[in-house]
Amino acid sequence: MKKTKIKIRWPNNNETYASEGDDWFSTAAKAGLEIPTGCLTGSCGACEIDVNGETIRACISNIKNKKKCLLKVTLTTDPFWEN
Ligand code: FES
Repeated sequence: MKKTKIKIRWPNNNETYASEGDDWFSTAAKAGLEIPTGCLTGSCGACEIDVNGETIRACISNIKNKKKCLLKVTLTTDPFWEN
């Protein structure tokens, strides 16, 4: 079965494509962004991002396409994303 590419719009307005199950960190890197990390076990919340309004922890989540063609990624408090 062919995987559908998922379009992702990042806070820097770059757009990338990913497949379901891809990890958030490498996909963010393709957009020129680095998601902050801490524990990498889902405990600290340093890697939290908002995806279409839903907060997820990037270190314990993979990219999922919930019937939307575009995943819009934002951070509510994002001092690390400013550059
Ligand atoms: S890096 Fe700590 S929750 Fe993801």
